[in-house]
Amino acid sequence: MTEHLVVFQPSGNRGNIQEGKTIMEAARELGVGIQSICGGHQACGKCKIKIQDYHAYYESNKKGKKRISAPTEKEIELLGEDAIANGYRLACATQVLGDLTIDVPPETQVNQEVITKTATQKAVTIKPAVKKLYLEVPQPRLGASQGDWERVSEELKKRFGLADLSVDHGALATLPKALRDGNWKVTVTLFMEKKVIKVESGLAEAAFGVALDIGTTTLAGYLCDLTTGETVASEARSNPQISYGEDVISRITHTVHSKKGLKELRSCLFESLNKLLKDLSSGANITRKDIIDATIVGNTAMHHIFLNLDPRHLGSSPFTPVLQSPMDMNARDFGLEICPGANVHILPVEAGFVGADNVAVVIAEEPFKQDEMMLVIDVGTNGELVLGNREKLISASCATGPAFEGAHIKFGMRAARGAIESIKIDPKSYDVRFKVVGENRWNDQDPQVKATGICGSGIIDATAELLRAGIINPRGAFNKNISNPRMLYNEKETEFVIAWVDETDVGHDITVCQNDIRSMQLGKGALLTGANLLMRQMGVDSVDKVVLAGSFGLHIDKQNALDMGLFPYVDPEVVYSTGNAAGEGARLALLNTDKRQEAADIARRIEYIELSLEPDFQKEFVQALIFPTPQEVKSR
Ligand code: FES
Repeated sequence: MTEHLVVFQPSGNRGNIQEGKTIMEAARELGVGIQSICGGHQACGKCKIKIQDYHAYYESNKKGKKRISAPTEKEIELLGEDAIANGYRLACATQVLGDLTIDVPPETQVNQEVITKTATQKAVTIKPAVKKLYLEVPQPRLGASQGDWERVSEELKKRFGLADLSVDHGALATLPKALRDGNWKVTVTLFMEKKVIKVESGLAEAAFGVALDIGTTTLAGYLCDLTTGETVASEARSNPQISYGEDVISRITHTVHSKKGLKELRSCLFESLNKLLKDLSSGANITRKDIIDATIVGNTAMHHIFLNLDPRHLGSSPFTPVLQSPMDMNARDFGLEICPGANVHILPVEAGFVGADNVAVVIAEEPFKQDEMMLVIDVGTNGELVLGNREKLISASCATGPAFEGAHIKFGMRAARGAIESIKIDPKSYDVRFKVVGENRWNDQDPQVKATGICGSGIIDATAELLRAGIINPRGAFNKNISNPRMLYNEKETEFVIAWVDETDVGHDITVCQNDIRSMQLGKGALLTGANLLMRQMGVDSVDKVVLAGSFGLHIDKQNALDMGLFPYVDPEVVYSTGNAAGEGARLALLNTDKRQEAADIARRIEYIELSLEPDFQKEFVQALIFPTPQEVKSR
């Protein structure tokens, strides 16, 4: 038995392979993953590899023997003569006849790691829940009485070693037509090597999945190519349930007070999600039916509403969810308009107020893989905190209120075009400069910059700058001894003008008022109390790293957040913003099923702390309402 040394690059896997075996067989023996959707039948072209130093190998060696087999007709048809002349071959067609070094291009590698292009997306190994397999099925004839499905499942067993597969009813219903339209050539989509969920005529390689983050305020979707890992389209829009109340409690209350409440909330949610899916699909030139897998994250209330589970017990002590475990459901059963047989994976929740969105943040940020003590702060309408490292993780939820999202602020708005996102106040003249979302220049650099309101990062800047200039004191009260046109002393309350009417697009001055500062104090007090109590529980008096998750964190000025005491003081260098980490966790779980398992394990490992039961909660909260004094800030 003659053997030859075969080396695969870039993995470096090598070994002796029996002469005559295909490169695909060699790869299997040496543990190198090579793409294939036709099971090695020279039909899909996915197993393309490159022979290093091709001509030297293909030409006869000194003894007149070639080191690889000649290209087959199918290879020439699928790859083209030019590619073959450049050393590209099909692994399933090319036989090993001598020593070889083979490059496996990234698109041919199974489980390749995708390094994403954006700062907030993490690298992930592609290991999706679905895979496509191409089959050429023997035609039926009189005397051979097998059904279409039996014919397909036999072929799946013969070619891919897949036994005991089930089939989705919808896929089964399309099978006869797909087989006959494709002249008995079909591509089946397989979920978790267990169930056929879709059948298409001929060779159909495109495989897309969607990760959805259902927030109380915002719905976000990421459409991903499941073969390359690339995010091909992303969309966000307001959660239409806002018309039933801004926070989770008002949504839960609606389901309690109205018999049709849950139905109404679900119906507007699904209408919006399906429109979002339509926009995502058209953005990528595919149809919704091409989406063959989905992952969902959301806080516990959104999670329950999505799953049609009564959320009422989340709203009162002891805040018990109906379900904590992850769940797999069929898209058709929900009315989610993607491939009807597609699986929808809902990530697990931790506790009453710490949902699947927080679990997603944790699997994206991975504090459980680090030695350093990490504090993850996810600020949305509610604040969720996770503290820990590889030894231990604890979490808590705190009622920050919607002020950080620009809500309940007199001229507050979401971070949309025209919202003031950065503010500077001259501590002597009290002159104000500001920058709005969608513009790179400050208003004093370009008089065309007009404001329409203030978003969360703007109100944080305003608070820090008002404190620095001594316009408000550490207890949050305006200094009424200041005489300046920007200080408006009304009957009801004091206000400070951030933008004069001619600097706005809304026909009136934009101000920060006493109530706005109070809302900020309540939000920051809740967040800081949560962080302090978690640190005490963990037995630490400082953290090594602070991660700000959520779009809120992307825009805030770290120094200003620290100067107003939003969270425990750390060096600004160790504060990181990650954008929508919940959406990122959903994307990772979509692309790699190991992340789904990781989410299930982590959700059970995180210890949830009910802050209101902590003996010093009230005392800590009152203390945390106070802003740091200018002396404290200076001495840091
Ligand atoms: S595996 Fe399909 S062509 Fe080689």
